[in-house]
Amino acid sequence: VFLILLYLCFSCSGAQGEYAGLAAIKAYLNAKGERHRTVCLIPKSAHGTNPASAQMAGMKIQPIEVDKNGSIDISHLKAMVDKHKENLAAIMITYPSTNGVFEEEIGDVCDLIHKHGGQVYLDGANMNAQVGLCRPGDYGSDVSHLNLHKTFCIPHGGGGPGMGPIGVKKHLAPYLPTHPVIKIQPDEDACPLGTVSAAPWGSSAILPISWVYIKTMGAKGLKHASEIAILNANYMAKRLEKHYKVLFRGARGFVAHEFILDTRPFKKTANIEAVDLAKRLQDYGFHAPTMSWPVAGTLMIEPTESEDKTELDRFCDAMISIRQEIAEIEEGRMDPQINPLKMSPHTLNCVTSSKWDRPYSREVAAFPLPFVKPESKFWPTIARIDDIYGDQHLVCTCPPMEAYESPFSEQKRASS
Ligand SMILES: *Cc1c(COP(=O)(O)O)cnc(C)c1O
Ligand SMILES: *[C@@H]1O[C@H](CO)[C@@H](O)[C@H](O)[C@H]1NC(C)=O
Repeated sequence: VFLILLYLCFSCSGAQGEYAGLAAIKAYLNAKGERHRTVCLIPKSAHGTNPASAQMAGMKIQPIEVDKNGSIDISHLKAMVDKHKENLAAIMITYPSTNGVFEEEIGDVCDLIHKHGGQVYLDGANMNAQVGLCRPGDYGSDVSHLNLHKTFCIPHGGGGPGMGPIGVKKHLAPYLPTHPVIKIQPDEDACPLGTVSAAPWGSSAILPISWVYIKTMGAKGLKHASEIAILNANYMAKRLEKHYKVLFRGARGFVAHEFILDTRPFKKTANIEAVDLAKRLQDYGFHAPTMSWPVAGTLMIEPTESEDKTELDRFCDAMISIRQEIAEIEEGRMDPQINPLKMSPHTLNCVTSSKWDRPYSREVAAFPLPFVKPESKFWPTIARIDDIYGDQHLVCTCPPMEAYESPFSEQKRASS
């Protein structure tokens, strides 16, 4: 259904797929006698792995601006293509973008790059919005990865093993990685770029999960999942747009499978930041959505196809209720420092403590909406810790030499 990509190679994450794909592009260009082509264009909305992979593949990165609707700034792209046309190697583009928009010009962008001798790496991390609906190869990708641990059901909590197989068009196949022990490169005349993954088929033990998912969903089911993922995101964006600003939308006012809520204005109006919303969501029983990425200070919400409408509504209700809590601070009805957001999350210890001197009730703290019930309450185990302070400040206890003295040496000193 989704694979028109002809040749596959297995790598252990999206990032490793990017590296393998770009390395294949580089090997292909080198073989064509175009070793000088080293510039990789990357829109600023890209995932951080994109520039990291390009750098590792020996390319020079030219960032491309994003317009105020979240799409690639086409005039900047054209200017940069023109500037680098002699040395253009590739573009790395994510579709739909991480800003949650299907870039209308995707086909033209790919054409423009090809016309100037470059290759298109299409970051497939957002295939959840495409499986069964459209095919990257059709609108111009030469090589893409699939994040099986995102779109194809492999759980990836806690940084567990991922799989990022890449698919390439035929002209890149001879440049796919090889393996020193096991023959994985079918082409006899291949001039591969070397080995990318020590295990020839990547984290193969987890592949049955994706296989079973595809087999049980079937072609219709997979397409349905993409449609529901997009529908769910649009449903939530629609419910929340009356309370928050949805940062980016497509030309027709819709979002893709995810959307960004702009929480930055609350810093000025209520001294509230994205992290405060994220922590407060725990009191409502929710793990926070992606925070401060791809836009700093915002929340990026990707409901996927997996949650039912009741759950989506609960999440929206929580967000709307939190917006009202912010309004109370804005309107001076709640303390700007000691409020349910700044003091969140509320642990069982905190709520049951005999000392309670806050300007809001324990009920507001722990059971802010009727659906948060004592019998099913998820209790955050720890209250707020200082998020980045610890990362940014090396704490050295620097104990004095005496601390290393053994009891034996102390005894010796006492007796002498
Ligand atoms: C997750 C993601 C990646 C990287 O994938 P990993 O498997 O985490 O290495 C790349 N691009 C985008 C857009 C992503 O969302
Ligand atoms: C952004 O979207 C609006 C509404 O669709 C459109 O009028 C405007 O031209 C777009 N701006 C850019 C820079 O594309």
